[in-house]
Amino acid sequence: VSIQSHRKDEHVSLAIKFYNKTSHAGFDQLRFVHQGIPEISLDDIDTSTTIENIKMDFPIYIEAMTGGSEYTKKLNQKLARIAKSTGIAMATGSQSVALKDDSVASSFEIVRETNPNGIVFSNLSASADVSRAKAAVKMMNSDAIEIHINTPQEMIMPEGDREFNWIKNIKSIQEELACPVIVKEVGFGMSKETIQQLVDAGVKNINISGKGGTSFSKIENYRRKKQEMDYLEDWGQTTVESLLEAQPFKDKTNIIASGGIRTPLDAVKAIALGANSVGIAAPILYSLIKNGEEETIEFINDFIYGMKSIMTVLGTKNLSELQSKKLILSSDLLSYVSQRGLPY
Ligand code: FNR
Repeated sequence: VSIQSHRKDEHVSLAIKFYNKTSHAGFDQLRFVHQGIPEISLDDIDTSTTIENIKMDFPIYIEAMTGGSEYTKKLNQKLARIAKSTGIAMATGSQSVALKDDSVASSFEIVRETNPNGIVFSNLSASADVSRAKAAVKMMNSDAIEIHINTPQEMIMPEGDREFNWIKNIKSIQEELACPVIVKEVGFGMSKETIQQLVDAGVKNINISGKGGTSFSKIENYRRKKQEMDYLEDWGQTTVESLLEAQPFKDKTNIIASGGIRTPLDAVKAIALGANSVGIAAPILYSLIKNGEEETIEFINDFIYGMKSIMTVLGTKNLSELQSKKLILSSDLLSYVSQRGLPY
């Protein structure tokens, strides 16, 4: 077993070990105003959305997690069956391991084999060049590719990258790939300056993946054995702060949210703040490992029902109506918005 394959197994077990049902992504700092007479039925609710040419019936998907070992091949197969049964899209974890070691490519290929007509997203680091990005998409005949940015994680990893000249790769991947490109964080969030850099590079889909759910500083600090960089455990912007940072760009680029989405209400609030879809990672993995496939399918179907219920109560029949709802910000968030000069 290669060091990289072993790391993929460790990420899974540590994400489960540290899994916290309670989100710290800032959603409790936001409230909707209740309106008692919505004049709408549950059946009127349309949750469909798009990522460029990709049409999705539901605005949630299984976020990038795994692949690259025997164990994670089984997990990817199960996640693909869950995606197929619920009709949601699915991203895999970084395929970099399979581009280096052909013997683990099947741990990603199995996703497409299991769900031939499903929506599948590839995943690679922004350190990848165009040829790797094309190879990753080809491996799963993917509908889109996620390119992740994750500097704190790399710096905490003893074996991590130390050079971050990413914008050139991002620009050329955006220019040369035929499918949609999504640039995502891994749970550290984004600032308006980072989003501006991505928009300037031509990126059309940005997943702000904020702080408050799975913490890769926590996971990598544990893997270091010594907790010597645990001072970075609170680094980054929460998902809610990142969505506020994204406000000036809502018309220029497709905003996607992830990081600490734990309940249907979190997801609906993320959409009301401008996200067009929402990625969920650890809760789905946790449910799969603790409760199994059937219960996870039920978890996702209940999640969708919960989102539709809230949209019914709000009287918003589709995502664009939901996005026109203004949320009430806590005084902490109001201070954040004013210090950062954000339009909300
Ligand atoms: C991840 N995540 C991730 N992201 C990415 O872009 N490439 C990757 O290879 C991985 N690997 C990975 C493994 C495991 C086990 C987990 C739980 C997560 C990050 C993930 O896509 C997401 O951005 C964060 O996990 C935040 O979402 P949650 O977990 O709080 O819903």
